[in-house]
Amino acid sequence: MSRDTTQTESSTDPTEPSTDTAGSGTDAADPSADADQLVDTDPGGGGLSERERRETAATEPVVTARGLDVYYGDTQALDDVSIRIPANRVTAMIGPSGCGKSTFLRSINRMNDLVDIARVDGELFFQDAEIYADEVDPVALRRQVGMVFQHPNPFPKSIYDNVAYGLRVQGRTDDLDAVVEESLRKAALWEEVNDRLDETATGLSGGQQQRLCIARAIAVDPEVILMDEPASALDPVATSKIEDLIAELAESYTVVIVTHNMQQAARISDRTAVFLTGGELVEYDRTEKIFENPESQRVEDYITGKFG
Ligand SMILES: Nc1ncnc2c1ncn2[C@@H]1O[C@H](COP(=O)(O)OP(=O)(O)OP(=O)(O)O)[C@@H](O)[C@H]1O
Ligand SMILES: [Mg+2]
Repeated sequence: MSRDTTQTESSTDPTEPSTDTAGSGTDAADPSADADQLVDTDPGGGGLSERERRETAATEPVVTARGLDVYYGDTQALDDVSIRIPANRVTAMIGPSGCGKSTFLRSINRMNDLVDIARVDGELFFQDAEIYADEVDPVALRRQVGMVFQHPNPFPKSIYDNVAYGLRVQGRTDDLDAVVEESLRKAALWEEVNDRLDETATGLSGGQQQRLCIARAIAVDPEVILMDEPASALDPVATSKIEDLIAELAESYTVVIVTHNMQQAARISDRTAVFLTGGELVEYDRTEKIFENPESQRVEDYITGKFG
């Protein structure tokens, strides 16, 4: 265990960072144990800002890690990570290069399976299913836990066929046109492409390609969308569109986003997890708390640019 000793009593356990998932006296060993207590505590939302309303509304954890270690050969990339990621929220992962942020995302949808030397220890749940259980089909898992990468990676196919791809793989060909349109609308791209759906996707701008990849990810109706620096290769206008889109997506999906842009994390996320060198999750809390009054001196130093 290498947990930060500067954390206070009230937040020593990064699995219990959030007012809305931390039912008192709940059994942390069972990610679904406190589900009954995770009722909406906000009676009407009257007088509260959207952010405040979202903060007070309770939500079940959709991804739960306990004591998660990931190794690549002899290199340990994640060290004893415990976290509960709430549903229908934006959770940001920040930290210096090499601290394990992408590794954590790739653990959640088992993309690490594709790396021969990767080894995962500890517990990781999607809802109440163990992600690394033998019976889990990684392909089916990735349908529920979609991913968007730093560089947009549309297939060399038409715009339409990109969005329809996952549906066709599943044999879902009914209402294809409607689902393609709905996905493009949700990804805030429909207005820009509806008259050229048959054109090749690689002809779109970088920002449009990234929104297309988001449309492709949501077309199969996932629960979670993992985003690994989705805007870092985009200009400010395209970045702002992606940020607006993320806020909208969180109404229907759980978004977990890695970003190197602190302002972006502060702007768009409800929760922030700070990883530091060695693959340690040092602090996880409401985003405002992390940026305004972190418990850990190391987190404060990182956020204020003293290192990293
Ligand atoms: N396929 C791999 N094979 C071997 N080592 C790897 C592999 N992928 C990542 N690592 C190592 O695991 C550690 C964590 O890497 P990871 O890519 O998760 O960091 P990151 O926080 O996403 O960094 P960045 O901000 O630069 O994207 C690093 O030491 C990295 O070198
Ligand atoms: Mg990375």
